Amino acid sequence: MPVAPQPTLVASVLPADFANLGAQLQELDKAGLDRVQWDVMDGRFVPNLTFGPDVIASTRGLVGLGFEAHLMVEDPDPMLPRWVEAGCEIVIVHAEASTHLHRTLARIAELGARAGVALNPATPLSAVHHVLDLVDLLLVMTVDPGFGGQRYLASMEPKIAAARAEIDRRGLDIELEVDGGIDGSTIAAASAAGAGVFCAGSALFAGAGTFTDRVAALRTAATTGAAA
Ligand code: DX5
Repeated sequence: MPVAPQPTLVASVLPADFANLGAQLQELDKAGLDRVQWDVMDGRFVPNLTFGPDVIASTRGLVGLGFEAHLMVEDPDPMLPRWVEAGCEIVIVHAEASTHLHRTLARIAELGARAGVALNPATPLSAVHHVLDLVDLLLVMTVDPGFGGQRYLASMEPKIAAARAEIDRRGLDIELEVDGGIDGSTIAAASAAGAGVFCAGSALFAGAGTFTDRVAALRTAATTGAAA
């Protein structure tokens, strides 16, 4: 019986207490997480507005956690170097926001970061078939991006399963991540559909117990889902 791979758990910092961001990141660092996701929003690609590379850079030296930048921005190209310089090892752009996606993804790799591409719920997997050989990470959004605390869209599970099948069919080394409404119950369903990386915000920052308790609960639920 093949052993299900260990899930990768990523914390969205969107729900964090920004008045104590450094301390919260240090708590997350001790809680057994694998990475932090910086939800970068420009108020154009999504209605919300968050932070720039200087905020990320100011926290880089505080924790050992990996940083991924999820760029929910129109035209990500001009600022690509800044996210890498800020300490992000993964830079994720939206297929819907990049006019020349091959060029954008190749640029991220040239900068020394791992390249990720994200799909909004309304965007079919076919939108990235032509660039899967260029990415290290595929992010399937399970909410319309822009805000935390939204309801998980179970209707994305066929897309997750199709992405897993396509990655495996081509034998590609791509992390398949889901993001939006991920909690103790939805993580099992997303895992069963084929996701291996789970980004959670509200489920990590709110709820019973400590960060460590909530990370452990999510990890268990994801593993249970994978074994399903
Ligand atoms: C949504 C962000 C998500 C969000 C996750 O635009 O990309 O990362 O913060 O938060 P929850 O887990 O609360 O849906």
